[in-house]
Amino acid sequence: MQMTKQTEEKWEPKIIAFCCNWCSYSGADLAGTNRLTYPANVKIIRVPCSCRINPSFVLRAFQRGADGVIICGCHPGDCHYSTGNYHTRRRMTLLFSLLDYLGIEKERTRVEWVSAAEGQRFVDVMDDFVAQVTKLGPCRRLEDLRCRTN
Ligand code: FES
Repeated sequence: MQMTKQTEEKWEPKIIAFCCNWCSYSGADLAGTNRLTYPANVKIIRVPCSCRINPSFVLRAFQRGADGVIICGCHPGDCHYSTGNYHTRRRMTLLFSLLDYLGIEKERTRVEWVSAAEGQRFVDVMDDFVAQVTKLGPCRRLEDLRCRTN
């Protein structure tokens, strides 16, 4: 039996990582400076603060074909805008519950705190999240098929 091209290719999840400018993005930057590697399928979107992430950004990411969305911000108490990450934590808890209700498993979404000094932690978090989403397989629940490229 001949295998089709699709089955030969190993599926890799598409991960969107929203990172706040002041801590998590700097943590990712530090990882790069230290030549640490994290999975290439993680696409980082830099935002001024984690609380800048409107829930519609997460919905849109899934609609555009993301298999997992992770939000990274400063540790509680360290937000550059003092309480932004507290708002994020509350807002995303509600959003992730709603998404779970809609059929997007909670394991496909995550909020993590990564400081600018935690390059290794950034790598560990991304490795773990990618492995977790890979186990779940592709996410087709909210996908807008018009946005597919393949
Ligand atoms: Fe990083 Fe607000 S500035 S979470």
